Amino acid sequence: MNTGHVELARVQQERWESAYARRPQLHGAQPSAAVEWAAEVFGAAGIDDVLELGAGHGRDAFFLARQGFSVHATDFSEAALDQLRHEAQREGLDDRVTAALHDVRDPLPPADATVNAVFANVLLNMAFSPSELRSLVAEIHRVLCPGGLFVYAVWSTDDPCSRHWRQLDDGLSMHDGFVGRFFDESLVTELAEQWRLDDTAPYDEGQRRMWRVTMTKPGPES
Ligand SMILES: C[S@@+](CC[C@H](N)C(=O)[O-])C[C@H]1O[C@@H](n2cnc3c(N)ncnc32)[C@H](O)[C@@H]1O
Repeated sequence: MNTGHVELARVQQERWESAYARRPQLHGAQPSAAVEWAAEVFGAAGIDDVLELGAGHGRDAFFLARQGFSVHATDFSEAALDQLRHEAQREGLDDRVTAALHDVRDPLPPADATVNAVFANVLLNMAFSPSELRSLVAEIHRVLCPGGLFVYAVWSTDDPCSRHWRQLDDGLSMHDGFVGRFFDESLVTELAEQWRLDDTAPYDEGQRRMWRVTMTKPGPES
């Protein structure tokens, strides 16, 4: 793990672990709005395999698998991944959905330019320092093939909660023990520096106001 909020990260990991252990299927069975978009974008690009980061118990991984994608799902919660593996077997999707424990503060396991698509719903707005966030996006860029796609969704600063949550250092906020970051459009643009920014869309999901972002790792011809 690189420098940054090491103690904060440890506490957050415990928090997520106990949240999943206390409440199986914490995020429900319905896919996120962002994954429905991602499936269309990835499918239109002829991609059939996806690396999902911060996959939780796998509601979006299963949606992608049912659409015919192979998904490698990672998260830093073993409890969430246990549920994901159990569900994959129960649904007969374990040939299409694999899972591995991974903290995205550490380098991503794939070799350079070996992944076609990365998806992350409500991960980038977790408790990362600005440098951890930039490193994570650089890692995603490293593992993607030229022309590879990255779709992510994050909380927006237009969400009314962004004003009520307790403010911490580095632009992070805290509520009920969970720490995260609300993104404004300039942060989306800043993180897209080495990318082609294809689409940035505001939307509402449940009580949350969100950004959905689609970026391409430029190929040699671009
Ligand atoms: C809001 S949940 C979203 C889960 C899933 N993407 C979904 O939409 O159902 C955020 C997820 O990110 C995971 N997470 C947070 N920080 C992480 C980190 N540093 N490395 C890997 N996973 C992390 C949590 O365990 C949790 O499963």
